[in-house]
Parts: sequence; C-alpha cells; structure tokens
Amino acid sequence: MHEMRRFEPPAELAAHANVTADVYAEADADRLAFWEKAAERLSWDTKWDRVLDWDNAPFAQWFVGGKINAAYNCVDRHVEAGNGDKVAYHWVGEPENDTRDITYAELKDLVCQAANALTGLGVKAGDRVAIYMPMIPETVVAMLACARIGAPHTVVFGGFSSTALRDRIQDCDARVVITSDGGYRRGAPAALKPAVDEAVAQCPDVRSVLVVQRTGQDVEWDDSRDVWWDDAVGTASTEHTPEAFDSEHPLYVMYTSGTTGKPKGILHTTGGYLVGTSYTHWSVFDLKPETDIFWTAADIGWVTGHSYIVYGPLANGTTSVMYEGTPDTPHKGRWWEIIQQHKVTILYCAPTAIRTFMKWGSDIPDEFDLSTLRLLGSVGEPINPEAYIWYRETIGGGRCPVMDTWWQTETGQLMISPLPGITAGKPGSAMKALPGIGALVVDDEGNAVQPGSGGYLVLTEPWPAMLRTLWGDDERYQDTYWSRFQGLYFAGDGAKLDEDGDIWLLGRVDDVMNVSGHRLSTTEIESALVSHPKVAEAAVVGANDPDTGQAVNAFVILRESALKDGEKADDALIQELRNHVSKEIGPIAKPKSILVVPELPKTRSGKIMRRLLRDVAEKRDVGDVTTLADSTIMDQIKQGLATGKDDD
Ligand code: PRX
Repeated sequence: MHEMRRFEPPAELAAHANVTADVYAEADADRLAFWEKAAERLSWDTKWDRVLDWDNAPFAQWFVGGKINAAYNCVDRHVEAGNGDKVAYHWVGEPENDTRDITYAELKDLVCQAANALTGLGVKAGDRVAIYMPMIPETVVAMLACARIGAPHTVVFGGFSSTALRDRIQDCDARVVITSDGGYRRGAPAALKPAVDEAVAQCPDVRSVLVVQRTGQDVEWDDSRDVWWDDAVGTASTEHTPEAFDSEHPLYVMYTSGTTGKPKGILHTTGGYLVGTSYTHWSVFDLKPETDIFWTAADIGWVTGHSYIVYGPLANGTTSVMYEGTPDTPHKGRWWEIIQQHKVTILYCAPTAIRTFMKWGSDIPDEFDLSTLRLLGSVGEPINPEAYIWYRETIGGGRCPVMDTWWQTETGQLMISPLPGITAGKPGSAMKALPGIGALVVDDEGNAVQPGSGGYLVLTEPWPAMLRTLWGDDERYQDTYWSRFQGLYFAGDGAKLDEDGDIWLLGRVDDVMNVSGHRLSTTEIESALVSHPKVAEAAVVGANDPDTGQAVNAFVILRESALKDGEKADDALIQELRNHVSKEIGPIAKPKSILVVPELPKTRSGKIMRRLLRDVAEKRDVGDVTTLADSTIMDQIKQGLATGKDDD
C-alpha cells in the first residue's frame, strides 16, 4: 500500500487555468448567478426569465422561458465563428489505418442531412429515436440530428442484448431505430443489425430502421421498414434551419440499472444539461479549445460518452479523439499509439482500464511518446491509490494532475472533482463538490457527519444537468432519489470525509454493482437467471475483484426437474446459465462465477442475506449468522456443488 500521498496543483497549470480559486466563493455567494454566467457561454435563441424554478421540488426547471437548439450550439455556431475547418473528431477505427478526420463544417453538413432524413421518415419534435450503434462518427451525427429536430434520443449501448434493446425501445416508445450492420471489435466485425431485427419484431410501433453500413457484413433486410443511411442521409440536403426549443425540452433518455429489475429511463432536458456539461468540461479539464486534443475513452452508449464525447466537448468547440475498438487490438499499446499519433493532451477513462494497463506492464506505454499529455481524468468507480499513482507517474509522466470525477447518469455532469491548478490531488479521493454544487456526507438520520467519519453521499442543491424525472414514472423518481432523506438527493453511494473534509467515495450502498465501471443491478441479473427453466431461485452479489472493481457472483438453486437422477450440475450447465444472462442482458452482465447451492441464506422474514454471500464470494469467514432462519445453511453453501469459472 502507498501511504496517503498528496500532490500539490502544478504551478504552471495554476497560472493559466480557466478558473481561479475564488470560483468557489463566487458560487457560494450566489449560486444561481454563478450558473447564469455559465449559461451565458452558450448561444440562446431567447434568454430565460428565471434561472431556476424549484417551487415544485423535486421537479426542477432550469433557465425557464429560455429557448435553445443543442445541435446549433454544438456545431453551427463554431462554423459561424470561422472555425469550420477545425477538426471536431479525429476518429480512429479499430482496424489500423482506418481513420477519419471530421471538421466542424463537415459535421454541420452531416447533421443537417441526417436531420432532413429523419424528418423525411416522419420523425417530429417529441418523438423518440433509439440509437444502437458502434463507436463511429454516424453515432454522433445521429444524436445531434435528433437534438436538432427536438426528437429525444435513447442510445442503447451496443453491448446490450436484443432483449435489453427491445425493453428500452418499448419503455420509451421509440418509433425509429438507428443502427449499423455492425462494428469492429477485437479484430473482427461484430454484428448489430440481427439484434435490432430480433428486438423490433416485438415492437410493432417502430416504423423505420435506419442502417449505417460500417463493415459490409450481410444483413437481413425488410424493405417495408429498413432504410440504408447512405440512401436517406447521403442524398439529403445539407441545408437545415435549426428550431429553438424550450430549455426544458427533453434531449434524451438514458437507461441505467436501478435496484429493481426494470431499468430506469433517466430523462435529461436541453438547456440545463448543455450548461452543466459544457461548463464542467471547460473548468475541470481546463479545456483550451485552440490547443487541446481531448480524449474520453468511453463508449457513447454510456453517460460519459454523451456528456464528454458529444455534448460538453462539442459545445466548447473542442477537437476530440474518438476510438472504435478495444485497447488490445491489434496490440496492447493501441491507446498510447493513438495518443502519440494525435498528440492527445487530456485523457479521460475508467480505473478498470488503468488497472488492466498496469497488469500488462509499464514497458508497453514506455515505448510511446506521451509527452503531449497535460491532464488526466478518471471516472466511473473508485480509483484505488495504486492505480491512481501508476496513472499519474507512468502515463502522466509525473507532471499531469489526475481529476478523479464522481458523477452519475442521473447527475448528467461532473459533480465532485478536483479543479486543475486549484485543488490538490489525493489518490483515492474525488476531493470536493465543484463550484455551484452542494454535497454532504450524512448519517442514517440525514445529519452531516464530521470530518473523519463516513455515511451516505447526498446532494443538497439542484444543479443544471440534473435528471428531471424517470421516463414515465414521476413517482419512482421521487421514491428513488428524494425520499430517503428529506429535501436531499440520495445518490446511492457510501462516502467518508477525511480529516481535511475531503470526500472519499466508497461504492454503492444499494443493490447496484459496479463492474468495470459499468452499472449493473443485482436484481436484474437475478431475474435473468430465474427466467431460465432450470433455475428455481437466484441471488447475485458484487464481490471485490482486483481487475474489474467488482465482479458478478451468482448463487442459484436448481429446479428439481433440472437434473435427472444422479446427474450433477456440471460446467456445461453453468455455461448455459452464464450464456443465458448474456442473452437476456448482455455480455457485461455475465456472472464471473455461478455456485449451485441447496439453499440461500435467508432471514426469518425471508430476505436474502447478500452480506453472507459476499463473504463467501470474497473467500472470507462468514460473519454473524444468528439472524439466519437456518444457521447450517452457510456450511452447505460453502460445500457448493459446482462452480462456474470465467472463461472469457
Ligand atoms: O457508485 C458511483 C460510481 O458510479 C456510479 C454511477 O454510475 P453511472 O450512472 O453508470 O455513471 C458512471 C459514469 C459517470 C456512482 O453512483 N462512480 C462514478 N464515478 C465515481 C464513482 N465512484 C467512485 N469514484 C468516482 N469517481
């Protein structure tokens, strides 16, 4: 273990940073004036009359009365300002030498064409459009085209199964799906269209599927529904007048896992979201649009991609890198090669990636020139001090500060993070709430804890990019986030304050797991397991894992009919169950291990004691079992009948 270290902010960064230390006092003095100033960085068609309407809390309205077009702010205004030739994306495909640079002027033409094509397909403001795509430029174009015509998009991560896609299309009642034949992954084309065909077969209201050709794979075709992107978008006019939408017009719905089986549709609206993402992108990454090359190494299918590959960076006129594939294709130095080639100055990624690179060894990045990097970011899960220090030293050459940024799909924007040139870095701590954000660590009763103590992370003030509700479920929105502590937003994370009052995130306190920075619900995976005909009951826990942060560990009770006389639960059955979860949710949810057990540990009231299962999964002595209905059960579980191991 490293002792607790503290890195002072580099002086040369401080001298030129976008924000200065007095920003905290400024925001504290008048929070709404602070956000109003941030909003003035954007182009509004009509100015707001009121910064925040919180009268109907927890339902917020930001920049009330303002009208704005998100796509215009992300694209047109940079072209109008004379920056049309500036590169918006250095896009890097997974196959080597498959690259494309897209300027702001080109992006504008593409977005206008796609907006016209969508209109041609009958999409109107307010209609939902599902996007199920690989990491290709058309994905960004599709999102911006939707935003331009006021059609909220719902991007579904390409790694999700057809079942997951179907559920999301149905939940938000999307009428059009944008997809591609596939994308490149681990050196080979991976298909996407078949999953769309399967999903859409059960979504009678989907009238069109727009298909980008990326890999040239054969696809099934339904003439009454399917349209090639090139035919519809490629032939459309590059002229399109953006319409200004109400600041609170829905921009997108992003589904995320909650504590129940049903994913939650997080709703983000236009004005506040764009203010929150663009301001934090500019301040936390000290973004200098003239000189920086910014790279968020995440998938657009997650909120990190929405806020920091698309909306934040584009609103700031940034040149970004966007990479299609995996870090080890065709070799384990791919990321570092991309940084060297494109002279990346800011890298933003997840601790899981960093831990993987650490395992592969420093020799690999050492072969590349990473001297252009000046700032590093981390997101998605707690970063362990070893990974932080390795990142800072080996990738950042000891000169780049690390911004450990805490936020969520729900918050839309960065919330807790150091500020470059201002805040010191402590490996493992996200430090403090950003200016304009109120965060506290509270005890069970909702009282703020003292430095040196732990509790629950809550947010005390509304913020511009906050979720507005859960799609179609205001009640669940209130129950999930605003009912645990009166008047406070409950994030679902445990946290502690150190002696200096800095915040350390400790992971989820609910039934949500974090595997490789991906958010998964224990109950969702349990439901997937019990939907298999051979499974009677299932319990899932997230156990600590040195590589992925947490790993999915499942315990299942088989139906009596599952095994014939004398037959054992063998590896083939375990694989069958793992594949079943993959089919139901997606490969990311596949349990790392499945233990077949005769019983599950339950309290007398029938509640599964996941804590004990976590002890088993983490190979600890099992804790207090006195509340179990049958205390011999843990012994039986430990002599489990079969274990499934991770083979991929
Ligand atoms: O538990 C926290 C963890 O990720 C959760 C949010 O997941 P999601 O909505 O998928 O968004 C991930 C990308 C923003 C949080 O509740 N988390 C996120 N960032 C951090 C983190 N945990 C510790 N430190 C972080 N920097």
